[in-house]
Amino acid sequence: MSASSELEKAATAYALDAVRLDKQGQKGRAITLYQKAIESLLQLVQLYPEYGLNKVYVQRAVAYQERIKALQGSVSPSEYNQVDSNNDDGGSSATMDGNSGGSGNNGKSKEELVVTEKPKVSWGEVLGLETAKKAVKEAIVYPVQRPDLFPLGWPRGILLFGPPGCGKTLLAAAVATEIDANFYSIDAASIMSKWLGEAEQNVAKLFNTARKSANEGKPAIVFVDELDSLMGAHTNEVGGEIRVRNQFLKEMDGIMDKGKALHVYVIGATNKPWDLDWAFIRRFQKRILVPLADHATRLNMLKHYVGTLQIAADVDLRELARLSEGFSGSDIRDVCQSAQLKLIGEFFESGKAMDKAAKPRALKMVDFRQILEERKPSVSLDMLTSYNRWFEAFKAL
Ligand SMILES: Nc1ncnc2c1ncn2[C@@H]1O[C@H](COP(=O)(O)OP(=O)(O)OP(=O)(O)O)[C@@H](O)[C@H]1O
Ligand SMILES: [Mg+2]
Repeated sequence: MSASSELEKAATAYALDAVRLDKQGQKGRAITLYQKAIESLLQLVQLYPEYGLNKVYVQRAVAYQERIKALQGSVSPSEYNQVDSNNDDGGSSATMDGNSGGSGNNGKSKEELVVTEKPKVSWGEVLGLETAKKAVKEAIVYPVQRPDLFPLGWPRGILLFGPPGCGKTLLAAAVATEIDANFYSIDAASIMSKWLGEAEQNVAKLFNTARKSANEGKPAIVFVDELDSLMGAHTNEVGGEIRVRNQFLKEMDGIMDKGKALHVYVIGATNKPWDLDWAFIRRFQKRILVPLADHATRLNMLKHYVGTLQIAADVDLRELARLSEGFSGSDIRDVCQSAQLKLIGEFFESGKAMDKAAKPRALKMVDFRQILEERKPSVSLDMLTSYNRWFEAFKAL
């Protein structure tokens, strides 16, 4: 057996025993086993620094560490559900709106794991991405508005993939606003790291909540960010990765089968589509590339971000759009922000800011040029080629 699978096995066994003893109130032995689980997890991370789930393993080690601390202090029984997070309160996670009652313990509660923000992003705020917007409208917006026009049904799983910072999250939020849906946003890494023990039950609860919402006439969007972290690549699981993944797949099948007019959608987002296996890919019937902005879109973004700034007449936004080839929307926002920060910094250093009536000078072309020269685009050409290649292989618009 390989060193990694030995370690995974050990970490799993220690963690399971620790949680069991913890539940039984055997503090001392639980602490010892949590400690051993932490050691195995950290060894695993050191052994394979490149492994995708390392972030999850580290988070889990931290969670165990916190639990040890809690056990070492005086712990009231009600705090037990920090580790075994959902045994006894009959589903407060089903409320999932961030502030509804909840378990009331001082540490991290389930409500933090699933955020139901009410996104207020409009289509207009999502710049460019015309093809992606169109695909998303066809898949979700039109079926919600006129289900009667879709006798053959419509897709429930939509995968948004592409380079970081190009608007995947923004696009998902815009859809939710458009159809006035409840938006359940979860980040896969935190499901894995914090929902210890019965993580898959929480996945089931989440989908129950979403279905309930849809049955009551309010469409539901389950947004899973970093979908690729649901993929365990190792043979063993250090705390339910495989079960969570399977539960998730099962839930996706459930929403596809159930009554034709049920408006529950799963939007998954990932920067690493190649990490997804076929079982996942297949269930996302729409697979949409959210690409890097082109020149026209970058120009729009620049206009948008300098809109509230004072700029001098020499600022040529077209030229800046040309210079920012390869930059994502998020990069462009950062560039504008940095230029402004630098300017305001100078203003303060000059001492003039103390005079409340004084105003900083306008931003000049050279300010932007400087920032652009110091900055590399966060998406490389290699990465772009990989997205396009994956898209060609698996596209489903
Ligand atoms: N197409 C776009 N239109 C307008 N703003 C954008 C666009 N793309 C990115 N931005 C800006 O960049 C920020 C980050 O975008 P977003 O979170 O949607 O990216 P993402 O594709 O989800 O990235 P990641 O893969 O890193 O999660 C947005 O809040 C917005 O300010
Ligand atoms: Mg995002």
